[in-house]
Amino acid sequence: MSKKLYETTIDYVDKKGSGRAVVWRDTGQVNPKKLKLTIPQTIPNEKVEVHVDGEGKRWIKTDYTKILESSAERVTPDCPHFDLCGGCVWQHWSYDGQLKEKTRYVKEMVKNNGFDPVLVEETIGVKGEPYRYRNKMEFTFSKEGHLGLHEQGNWRKIIPLETCLIAGKEMVDYAMEVQQWANDFHLSGYDKDEHSGLLRHLMVRQSFYTGEVMLGLFASEAPTGELEEAKAALIERVEANCPNVKSLMWFENKDWGDRTQAEEQYILSGRDFIYDEMFGFKYRLWFDTFFQTNPKQAETLVNLAIEMAQPKPTEKMIDLFCGVGTFSLPFAEKVGELAGIEIVETSIESAKRNALDNAIHNTTFLAKDARHGIDQILESFGIPELLLLDPPRSGAGGKVMRRIGRAKPERIVYVSCNPETFASDITELVPFGYELQKVQPVDMFPHTPHVETVALLTRI
Ligand SMILES: C[S@@+](CC[C@H](N)C(=O)[O-])C[C@H]1O[C@@H](n2cnc3c(N)ncnc32)[C@H](O)[C@@H]1O
Repeated sequence: MSKKLYETTIDYVDKKGSGRAVVWRDTGQVNPKKLKLTIPQTIPNEKVEVHVDGEGKRWIKTDYTKILESSAERVTPDCPHFDLCGGCVWQHWSYDGQLKEKTRYVKEMVKNNGFDPVLVEETIGVKGEPYRYRNKMEFTFSKEGHLGLHEQGNWRKIIPLETCLIAGKEMVDYAMEVQQWANDFHLSGYDKDEHSGLLRHLMVRQSFYTGEVMLGLFASEAPTGELEEAKAALIERVEANCPNVKSLMWFENKDWGDRTQAEEQYILSGRDFIYDEMFGFKYRLWFDTFFQTNPKQAETLVNLAIEMAQPKPTEKMIDLFCGVGTFSLPFAEKVGELAGIEIVETSIESAKRNALDNAIHNTTFLAKDARHGIDQILESFGIPELLLLDPPRSGAGGKVMRRIGRAKPERIVYVSCNPETFASDITELVPFGYELQKVQPVDMFPHTPHVETVALLTRI
């Protein structure tokens, strides 16, 4: 089918943040054909002109050529990479507009699963400018050796980094130092297809509280032999220009998988972890430690969870999917005893160490899949009055939810980064007599369609 021009109006935005619309293609027969379109960088109710050069039952991705009637919520994106970058797909949308959309989406998910959308509060946005909120970034080297971010919808293409408005300013400056070093030594970037080339990723992690930075360079070779000179220059450069780097790491990654993983690690300077703080508690973060990436909003989240849960010193509590203990530590101070379950062993080791570092002695942590760990903990620890769960995007799943329901804790606080799986998970609790009391959406990731929720369910 040849490229054709259509006018259409955006109906809604999908989970990935793109506008959705339909157009009707004239087939020369009685019934025109319905084409379903995905149109990035648009806002509901905007009238657009689009080029369509495909057809079929699936959604056809297209670019608009012109905005014919723009939304009152449209703004000019601040970032020069907006058009191409896959990071902040909503920078064309006013922050107020983004928050309204997030609330609407959570209400829709809740309603679709049989709950009253009135229980969903307005989304709490970030205070102040909705930029510079991320404490961790993973930049990628292109095969030409440019450090940057992935292009939207095209994971093979890397946009050379000029700036990144959601990362801390110092994090970007330090990344540029590493880029300059790579240029000086004409170091090659990794080629995913050929499995050749040296530099793969740069992870920059900064504590917004202590200021400490970790720079983690992922390369296909160890920093030895011919790379000794380059390694020494990197250490010197970082020492001279990046005073807050307390951990400079070189990770050897020979795997075909395009991830920041390490077969071997080398400490080039400082320690292999940085210190961070949240809610007044100290944490040690290694390169692979999961930690909330918007630390300021994470504190809002913890506060909300405490407010909803109303923990008491006489109570027992389970923190399911506890990670390194972001919720466990502040809650442990308020309950009698707390047990945490988490599948990643290093996170559990970290949670134990974090409890000790913060003089918290009423916690037990178990490294196990929640589906099995929950039975073990319920047996050894007993039935808690309070249960908090914060599962990954895929949700907790029916088996875990039904096990929670059968255990009958008085109150359940569900923290979620995916309203769809949250709403479907909590339907499993209804037959056990639980009632949804309140859902509070929180915006952790401005300019993206992601939204976090904290919800309270109680047994009637
Ligand atoms: C959204 S994170 C929350 C972590 C923690 N509550 C925090 O705020 O730092 C979800 C956690 O669930 C863990 N996880 C994923 N699948 C799991 C499973 N099947 N059983 C237990 N934990 C799991 C992940 O490793 C991750 O730490």
